[in-house]
Amino acid sequence: MSDIGKKAVGIAGTLSNIRRDIHKHPELSFQEHRTAGVIAGILEKAGIEVRRGVAGTGVVGILRGAAPGKCVALRGDMDALPIEEKTGAEYASVHQGVMHACGHDVHTTCVLGAAILLASLRESIPGTVKFIFQPAEEKNMGAKEMLKEHVLSDPDVDAIFGLHAAPSIPAGKVGIKAGPLMAAVDTIRISVLGEGGHGAVPDRARDAIVAAASVIQNLQTVVSRKISPFDQAVVSIGTLHGGQANNIIADKVEMGGTVRTYSSETRRKMPELLKNIITHTCSALDTEGELEYFFDLPPLVNDPECAEIGRNAAIAVLGAENVVEPSSSGGGEDFAVFLEHVPGA
Ligand code: NI
Repeated sequence: MSDIGKKAVGIAGTLSNIRRDIHKHPELSFQEHRTAGVIAGILEKAGIEVRRGVAGTGVVGILRGAAPGKCVALRGDMDALPIEEKTGAEYASVHQGVMHACGHDVHTTCVLGAAILLASLRESIPGTVKFIFQPAEEKNMGAKEMLKEHVLSDPDVDAIFGLHAAPSIPAGKVGIKAGPLMAAVDTIRISVLGEGGHGAVPDRARDAIVAAASVIQNLQTVVSRKISPFDQAVVSIGTLHGGQANNIIADKVEMGGTVRTYSSETRRKMPELLKNIITHTCSALDTEGELEYFFDLPPLVNDPECAEIGRNAAIAVLGAENVVEPSSSGGGEDFAVFLEHVPGA
């Protein structure tokens, strides 16, 4: 086993305790005060320079090696979800209605483990390692806020690495994939405007509900007819509000949805494609359709060279039989925001 492998085994118990402590005290986005305190304490104890309060609750650790060189960042997200924990684990959440259900307690612990190990190897590190503990991943906001506070500068980051727990991959294995891995996440709001009237006299009204029903159906043709079968996209309408009474024709319907794509090119085309369907469907049905499109998160696209570095490192520690290629996910990850600025995986 490599030296790092042996050292890792040596701190496994410590890391297990850290992870259970963080799991037991989950905190929601931008409220990770206790978690940030735990992280800062561990980094300081390892002799790592600490910057607190980055983007509110974020923490950054900086480990300067013995010789000059490049700067590599490792990123872990810290926030939990508004979910009630029912696992019955001895380290289950003590905060009612809040749970580390996405595994960010694991991510934080992994980056802390790397910090402890690398600090013990400082003399043999050429360059700098930056440990980025990010708040508010679940709100797709933490990475953007940390960028605003120049987290990738001073020193400038040359490459960044992160990870996400994946129940689909058995424990003990690591999944790494070059290229697109997770989706771009965008939000849409659609309004359909007609004219109200009595339900018994439809010819004297302009029915927003019938138009909205057609819009929902026709939107799926964007995915099936306008996107190449070798590309991917998802359009899902999640909310639909309209009308006041069973016998009144509604003058207005509002819908909300999510759009997922895997390439910046396809993503850029989506607003126009959706708008076309919405406006023409509505106009054919004597109503007006409006689309608001919000670009929330870019697709997560791993740099091939960085993915290869990660794959080789995982093989060195775990063996080739334990390194797999995961399938792409329709979920988003705001780590993608960092990848728009520096290469990474
Ligand atoms: Ni997550």
